[in-house]
Amino acid sequence: MTDDRTIQAPARRFTGKVAVVTGGGSGIGAACARRLAAEGAAVVIADIAAEAGEQVAEALRADGHQAAHIPCDVALAADWQRLADTVRATHGRVDVVVSNAYAMAIAPTHELAEPDWHRVLDVILKAAYLAVRHLHGLLPAAGGSLVAVSSVHALRGRAGFAPYAAAKGGLEALVRQLAVEYGPALRVNAVTPGPIATPQWRFTSEPDLRAEAERTVLGRFGTPEEVAAAVAFLASGEAAFITGATLPIDGGMTIRL
Ligand SMILES: NC(=O)c1ccc[n+]([C@@H]2O[C@H](COP(=O)([O-])OP(=O)(O)OC[C@H]3O[C@@H](n4cnc5c(N)ncnc54)[C@H](O)[C@@H]3O)[C@@H](O)[C@H]2O)c1
Repeated sequence: MTDDRTIQAPARRFTGKVAVVTGGGSGIGAACARRLAAEGAAVVIADIAAEAGEQVAEALRADGHQAAHIPCDVALAADWQRLADTVRATHGRVDVVVSNAYAMAIAPTHELAEPDWHRVLDVILKAAYLAVRHLHGLLPAAGGSLVAVSSVHALRGRAGFAPYAAAKGGLEALVRQLAVEYGPALRVNAVTPGPIATPQWRFTSEPDLRAEAERTVLGRFGTPEEVAAAVAFLASGEAAFITGATLPIDGGMTIRL
């Protein structure tokens, strides 16, 4: 059995395409930006963290790819409008949208402050609606693709995660809704990651990291590149007959009793 986690880009499936990746300044979003760019896409990173977003874009440009960072709080309609205007002027189109940015608030539900509830729902769930609202006019008449990054929290409860779970569950329902509403022109799918080694785990203790890894069948965290490979597949023509799907990238976490 091989255990080769080096994923080779199979082809340049996105040559001539334009991809918008939210939260592309870090973790899974940055891996998606790198993967889509490596396969030929012009990548627009929409991140609230200006420095991080610019750094990823700059590194891609240094490697000869077409990439830009547009500062954007995905919860704000005005930011989406500005992004859409800029992309219209620069590229005139958007072929791929990766809705990946997230916010998190962890607290017992009865202690959760109302603004925190709204923020998590807005950054994860409303953002996907705003993406469609503002980018619809830039999507192609055929062959467009939106991939939302969900979470195993959409499927399983864990104490303290109410707004995150509700937002991700809502996101998966919205993916199916949008797939029906905008197909066949636009395919809409989700990936449902389990534990993935990104900066969001930086404050977790070693024993807790080990316990999290052991909840998966494969006994480890996934890599951002492993999620990006699935996102790129779903966004590509190779997934041309897949829409409204949610693909677990969780090392088997959610199939275990
Ligand atoms: N890492 C995991 O274990 C894991 C597991 C399941 C699901 N996910 C999902 O994967 C996605 C990416 O997570 P990650 O671990 O790569 O996180 P990360 O913290 O490494 O990166 C998140 C990025 O989103 C940006 N961002 C945050 N709020 C934003 C906003 N309002 N507007 C624009 N950008 C914003 C941040 O600046 C950051 O660059 C999220 O949707 C998360 O829910 C992650």
